[in-house]
Amino acid sequence: MAIKPGHHEYDYSSWEDEKIYEKAYKASLKNPSEFWNKYVDDISWKRKPQTSYSNKWLDGGVSNVCYNCVDRHALSTPDKPAIIWHGDEYGERREISYEALRKMVQKIAAILKSYGVKKGDVVGIYLPMIPEAIASMLACARIGAIHLVVFAGFSSEALKYRLTKSNAKAIITVNSFKRGGKRIDLQQNIICNINIINLDDVTISDNMNTDIEWQNSDDDLFVLYTSGSSGKPKGVLHSALPYMLYVATTFKIIFGIRIDDVYFCTSDIGWITGHSYITYAPLFHGLTTVIFSGSPTYPNADRYWQIIEQEKVSIFYTAPTAIRSLQMFNKKFVKKHDLSSLRVLGSVGEPINKSAWKWYFETVGNKRCPIMDTWWQTETGGIILAPLRNLNQNPGLAGKPFFGVEIDIIDGELVIKNKFPGLCKSIISDNSYTSNAFYNTGDGAVYEGSDIKIKGRMDDVINISGHRLGTAEFECAINKIDEVKEVAVVAVPDELKGQTAFAYIVPIVSNIDPEILVKKIINSTRATIGSIAKPDYIAIVPDLPKTRSGKIVRKLLRDIANGIETPSELHSVVNPEVIEDVKSSVNNPIFCPDMCKLP
Ligand code: WT7
Repeated sequence: MAIKPGHHEYDYSSWEDEKIYEKAYKASLKNPSEFWNKYVDDISWKRKPQTSYSNKWLDGGVSNVCYNCVDRHALSTPDKPAIIWHGDEYGERREISYEALRKMVQKIAAILKSYGVKKGDVVGIYLPMIPEAIASMLACARIGAIHLVVFAGFSSEALKYRLTKSNAKAIITVNSFKRGGKRIDLQQNIICNINIINLDDVTISDNMNTDIEWQNSDDDLFVLYTSGSSGKPKGVLHSALPYMLYVATTFKIIFGIRIDDVYFCTSDIGWITGHSYITYAPLFHGLTTVIFSGSPTYPNADRYWQIIEQEKVSIFYTAPTAIRSLQMFNKKFVKKHDLSSLRVLGSVGEPINKSAWKWYFETVGNKRCPIMDTWWQTETGGIILAPLRNLNQNPGLAGKPFFGVEIDIIDGELVIKNKFPGLCKSIISDNSYTSNAFYNTGDGAVYEGSDIKIKGRMDDVINISGHRLGTAEFECAINKIDEVKEVAVVAVPDELKGQTAFAYIVPIVSNIDPEILVKKIINSTRATIGSIAKPDYIAIVPDLPKTRSGKIVRKLLRDIANGIETPSELHSVVNPEVIEDVKSSVNNPIFCPDMCKLP
């Protein structure tokens, strides 16, 4: 059994003094492999490694991620629910026991094999949040294939780019699904030449058996694309076994899990949170993971609270954007449900503002539940910073580094200074990350007392509702429009989404109809990236400020869009006469709300 009963050394819920954390943390840094050794036995091994680290993580170890997340629990607790799914409408519910999950995984693995998928092959997964999506990830893990999940909100072009860049051999999808009362087509978005495994019309016997492909410390588990500062998304590659050790251990300690926990995370498998803390960590520990494929406000704004009450959820993990949007609705949506089963709350994806924190703590948690504000990234695989205490938390601060992870703030940037098992192996077409001695996170941070406050991205990444999108990706999409001569996209704060995109556009002709231009911009970002990507503000300008060498001075444009009185980089502009035009267009931008009607 993965979770040992009783208190363990790092059960910080019983630590009354911050000094106990300090001491344990320091000891874990002195000898990180000693810390990780304590958790190596949580994994069921085919061959156990001698130590957690020697030259590489779990060197010499042989195991399988699917075996640890499914088979061993199907043996010990076959009837326990592994996944509970809630659909778009009230009452749409499915319960998948560990034994049923094992069968489902076996079946999908057999289908993959029938398409010739072998160990090391990349398999795309383009599915809504249904149990089969999780089973598809696990089926890949079972046969040693590398999954590549693409969020169902990404466009056909974005999907094609990811599939072709990573040489995917097959893709698992369905025809369509329903969310927020609307039908969304999926299969028709696959516009490249690839084996399509359509789960709607697969017929294969229920009792298929596929052998486990044992994985060693070098084998890979998945690729997931995320945004950086270039115009193209980057594929982040994670290992199988070291990644599993990291997500399982962080989950166990940070959420202080118990074997009878019912855990509900509202993310989607299209993001890293859905990989690490919907699929792998909870199933590794044999818990019940609750998933929801609907919209939190459809048909009413109580879907999360209704699910928590019905399933007696004890750990709830969501994002600040969701909290802020639900906070806007009447408290009665929360209060009509009995949420007394909750023990721990979590937040992830973006900084949580104090007002949202307070509402989450008081209205949802009834002042009983600590809030784990967890900071991490696609690249780190699992949580790096969390409050690591249950009492006297600091609203809005992500807190302290996890055991065994050494961090620092250098020139205002959060960096990781040592090796830890969660860090990605490589980034497709960019190996710079893991070859450096330090891992630069790209996030600005400061200490407030002994806690860390995350200030946000320092690079050209915009965090919209916890979704990472590069300004350059927006610019590439907008540049495709014939009527656009030049474009610069910058981040501006947004009350609900945390941040949003502000686009400066220089049209080819000055008398362009702004309405037509805006429609083209929205259509192009939708087609190139997906329905989640769209600039909320568009400013049409005659020209952009440039440097002597012809580079757009984006920092200045960002400052102006953010209303900063004395913007930076003014000195480097060779055409200062454009600045007044830029300023006046910013005072009156075209606002394109989400409900914007398109032809
Ligand atoms: C970026 C990573 C972590 C899984 C989901 C997002 C921001 C993430 C927090 C937090 C402040 C946060 C950072 C980070 N971020 N969590 N608790 N407080 N900012 O993963 O898509 O790779 O994005 O999200 O800016 O760099 P991701």
